[in-house]
Amino acid sequence: RTIYLADYTPFTHVVEQVELTFRLAPATTRVLSKITFAPNPESDGGTFFLHGEALKLISARIDGAAVEVRPVEGGLTCDVPSGRFVWEAEVEISPESNTALEGLYMSNGMYCTQCEAEGFRKITYYPDRPDVMAPFKVRIEGDLPVLLSNGNPVAQGEGWAEWVDPWPKPAYLFALVAGELVNHLDSFTTASGKQVELNIWVRPGDKDKCAFGMDALKRSMAWDEQVYGREYDLDIFNIVAVDDFNMGAMENKGLNIFNSSAVLASPETATDANFERIEGIIAHEYFHNWTGNRITCRDWFQLCLKEGLTVFRDQQFTGDMRSHPVKRISDVLELRARQFREDNGPLAHPVRPESFVEINNFYTATVYEKGAEVIGMLKTLVGDTGYKAALDLYFERHDGDAATIEDWLKVFEDATGRDLSQFKRWYSQAGTPRVGVEEALSDGTYTLTLTQATPATPGQEVAEPLVIPVAVGLLSPNGDEVVPTQVLELTETRQEFTFEGLGAKPVLSILRNFSAPVILERDSPNAERAFLLAHDTDPFNRWEAGRALAKDVLVRMITEDAAPAPDYLSALNTVARDETLDPAFRALALGLPSQDDLAQTLFEARRTPDPLAIRRSVRALSRAIAEHSGETLSDLYDDMIVPGPYSPDAEAAGQRALRGAALGYLTLVDDGTRARAQFETADNMTEQLGALAALLNIDAAESELARFRAQWQGDRLVMDKWFGLQASMAPPDQAAERAQCLTEDSDFDWKNPNRFRAVIGGLAMNAAGFHAPTGANYRLVGDWLIRLDPVNPQTTARMTTAFQTWRRYDADRQGMIREVLEKIAATEGLSRDTTEMVGRILAG
Ligand code: ARG
Ligand code: ZN
Repeated sequence: RTIYLADYTPFTHVVEQVELTFRLAPATTRVLSKITFAPNPESDGGTFFLHGEALKLISARIDGAAVEVRPVEGGLTCDVPSGRFVWEAEVEISPESNTALEGLYMSNGMYCTQCEAEGFRKITYYPDRPDVMAPFKVRIEGDLPVLLSNGNPVAQGEGWAEWVDPWPKPAYLFALVAGELVNHLDSFTTASGKQVELNIWVRPGDKDKCAFGMDALKRSMAWDEQVYGREYDLDIFNIVAVDDFNMGAMENKGLNIFNSSAVLASPETATDANFERIEGIIAHEYFHNWTGNRITCRDWFQLCLKEGLTVFRDQQFTGDMRSHPVKRISDVLELRARQFREDNGPLAHPVRPESFVEINNFYTATVYEKGAEVIGMLKTLVGDTGYKAALDLYFERHDGDAATIEDWLKVFEDATGRDLSQFKRWYSQAGTPRVGVEEALSDGTYTLTLTQATPATPGQEVAEPLVIPVAVGLLSPNGDEVVPTQVLELTETRQEFTFEGLGAKPVLSILRNFSAPVILERDSPNAERAFLLAHDTDPFNRWEAGRALAKDVLVRMITEDAAPAPDYLSALNTVARDETLDPAFRALALGLPSQDDLAQTLFEARRTPDPLAIRRSVRALSRAIAEHSGETLSDLYDDMIVPGPYSPDAEAAGQRALRGAALGYLTLVDDGTRARAQFETADNMTEQLGALAALLNIDAAESELARFRAQWQGDRLVMDKWFGLQASMAPPDQAAERAQCLTEDSDFDWKNPNRFRAVIGGLAMNAAGFHAPTGANYRLVGDWLIRLDPVNPQTTARMTTAFQTWRRYDADRQGMIREVLEKIAATEGLSRDTTEMVGRILAG
């Protein structure tokens, strides 16, 4: 059944109070609920309905008297009094058989919950929708030492604990954890002087992996006070690490639950990239306390209201903690890799979708990352002070509300006086806009003509013009900036902008800092790109110019069998050596476009990408860089050693990143000598794993893989890396065999989402391997999805995206993928999640 935004109606009742008692038992947990309902003045009435799924109803009473309930699809109805009444129910559920990891489930003997989006209905009967908000009181009874829920602890004894959350919340923010856990304890004093107890709860062996997460939490709390004026609002803030988790983490009020991969870190077991991701996710979930919890969403179509904004906030935070240009470049890389891919294929949907079958399928790069880009554009358009005024008004006006995108835009209109009706199209129109550029100079007047067009997407044939902020600067031919950054507002399909008083034709630096999530259609000469790579004052565009050069070189290598262009090689060498540039930036500049990026680029140019040819060219270019810049790379490898004990800070991480990039290239020409030595001596995971990856890349890591495994056998998160690296880096002709072998490994615990993603997701990321001409890997992935679906529909559905780009490829490959997708679709009892995804991929 399809749900539509247009069909929204308020719930018949409001919930004034919720009281829950949990009697925990692995197969027979009893949940007792006592819920006070009152008629909702905003509702036109209708039948009283409570969601409920996979619940065994033991008893139901209204105002103390047994009531007859009528089961209906997805829940129950019953006759209710016309005024206020108290609903009491007892249900039985089985956490231990809950492999979907939604609702109350067990992970390594520990009870935990995941309720967003619609998991609470698997815990008890309830109006499980975000616009129904209520204070919760929870009593947990269970023979376990640690019993946690939302809010503040109010009473506890042997085998029980009681929690009260005074802040009204929707059911999706409910959480419960019970287990044999230990805590890393700390505290934070808020700006107004309130002391908050902070805990990270983990299994006993993981206590030494919490310090960084705790530090990130305290920095997040301080940052939200300083930058957004937002203080924490309970006496305690708990984070729990869980090994079996479908996503990264969850912002349950006062009790954030994390995939252990998104919180646990030590120098020996986590890479610099892991540390940065953990810092970002801790911040993200913490920031949800205001953008998500205090102000939540009216319905799930508004998901980007909390997710786009919270991603934007965590990106700002990481930029402040580390480096803004480096963070921006990394975010754009991600956006292009995940969101552009989605927006230009069968799964394209607006930032605010208008219909869905299964909401879990819409926790997407579009809702999250494009949602954050839309906020970034808004901020660019109204300026920093306008943004601050709008956000202050948002918190003031909507605290305690379940709000909409209309509410969000209205605060910007009211705070800044700007009409956002055209801008609003960003929320309803899918697809990546294409922006065209024409330049002309006459009599000292430079005219820039910009055009925009958005291609059709599934269900949207015509696209209207958007408001696109295009940040531009102009450089003189000798490299001076003659026009500093200004933001042009492109609102029409074709629009001219003029600049007076220019003697010579300037060099255009356009879309600075990636001011809008668009594809620039512009064929600038490589000499100009090289000029910008050397001279642009905008760091993002410097990097972008280098990337455009690399792409151009690679496309020529792939399609014309050209040799690597010498001017590109020397430009890259110059950047790599430039000590005025941040090492982290130089590391990014040394990275080459991904297989997927190149495949999409070729597809757009109406050429059928051949994954094997792409791989050959990327490897040939890498080798050419290694040969051309041998001395530079070897100097960098020697100079970028970070002295002293490992620290995950941005500066040290940047040096290691540059040194690691150098090692990757050098390994192509030194037979792995350096990588092998580094593997021997590394005292941190960044360098150990970097060496292992460099060796895998030349298919010479056999003994290191065995030793890595022997060393890390007992560490799940590190073993995920061992699995993932092999699946994603296997040479194309060995990928099928290697993947098969990994899935037969005694440590391949396929019901654990992290492990499943490491192997099956890793294989899907191994473009040349995944697309092997035999189709063996399509079938392997398809069969695993069929097997996982009844166990864990959410993770299965998410991983069908491995096939979303299928239309790019040749007829043989398309035919083989279609067969796999049709086989999945025809599977009996296929979940709603996977059915919807496969249907959309096939139709688009
Ligand atoms: N709200 C969580 C976060 O961003 C994600 C939870 C998504 N869960 C899901 N089952 N779709 O931070
Ligand atoms: Zn979020």
